[in-house]
Amino acid sequence: MTTLTLQPSGLSGEVADGTNLLQAILALGGQIASKCGGKASCGACHVFVTGGRKGVSKLTPAENAKLDTLVGIGSKSRLACQATILGTEPVTVELLGALSG
Ligand code: FES
Repeated sequence: MTTLTLQPSGLSGEVADGTNLLQAILALGGQIASKCGGKASCGACHVFVTGGRKGVSKLTPAENAKLDTLVGIGSKSRLACQATILGTEPVTVELLGALSG
């Protein structure tokens, strides 16, 4: 199990290793959109991984390509539907609300 913390709400809880980050955020009660059903095509699940970046799976080519089309991305940007909790360290995610598309 891995501790996942959501900002700015401060919600935190244990999630199973191997869990999709989008599902993990929803399981903790976080507000996040997923218009494409997790296919890396809508960009609505854009989040910043602000802590424990090694605790989530690496960027996939499809994720990278989609992020390149979004406004407001940075080095901490991830598509939650494409990232998996690895279990190597606690993870903190900043939910972007209206910015998430
Ligand atoms: S849910 Fe659409 S890109 Fe993640």
